[in-house]
Amino acid sequence: MLDLAPELDEIADNLPSWAEAEKAFSSWGNVIGTGVYRTVYRLPGSKWVYKKDNVGGVVNRQEFTNYSRFRPSLIPGVAFPEMHMVSETVIACEYIEGSYGDQGCWSANSHNVYLCPRNDSSDCWANKLAFLAQSIKDLHYGNVKITSDGTIYVIDMGEYIKNNGK
Ligand SMILES: Nc1ncnc2c1ncn2[C@@H]1O[C@H](COP(=O)(O)OP(=O)(O)O)[C@@H](O)[C@H]1O
Ligand SMILES: [Mg+2]
Ligand SMILES: [Zn+2]
Repeated sequence: MLDLAPELDEIADNLPSWAEAEKAFSSWGNVIGTGVYRTVYRLPGSKWVYKKDNVGGVVNRQEFTNYSRFRPSLIPGVAFPEMHMVSETVIACEYIEGSYGDQGCWSANSHNVYLCPRNDSSDCWANKLAFLAQSIKDLHYGNVKITSDGTIYVIDMGEYIKNNGK
């Protein structure tokens, strides 16, 4: 069978690339998610998603800054998807397969979750992310994915609260 894009087979399990990003951006069929700032694309089966923001790359660059800053101090059970900037404005992130955070653990009056409003078990996603929520804004249930082994992944860290949100 004719392989239309053999070069993509080689990069799929390795590093993201601008070439793969362009390929992903070329069809609306590759959109896997949308948020307030970003449209997220993925070629079927790829290790990577590519995020385009609608503010000239500001959110993506902020995300990469947060990634670099907070990744070294993550606690066991909490992870960030691997990320790379593939241009000045486009960020690539490891695709995370899993379920979103339990909505009941999110405090509905604020996107800045510090502790679960249920005051429940200490290992729910909101309580586990409390140490990060003081620095990374908008850690709501849709920005968190939990993999089958229970690891809590923060998939959106594109906002930063100056002065600890005060
Ligand atoms: N690394 C990822 N793995 C799987 N899905 C993702 C990933 N990043 C984003 N998505 C999907 O795309 C949606 C929008 O991405 P997000 O980064 O939250 O954009 P925004 O900053 O606009 O909210 C997410 O809610 C999720 O469904
Ligand atoms: Mg989001
Ligand atoms: Zn909870």
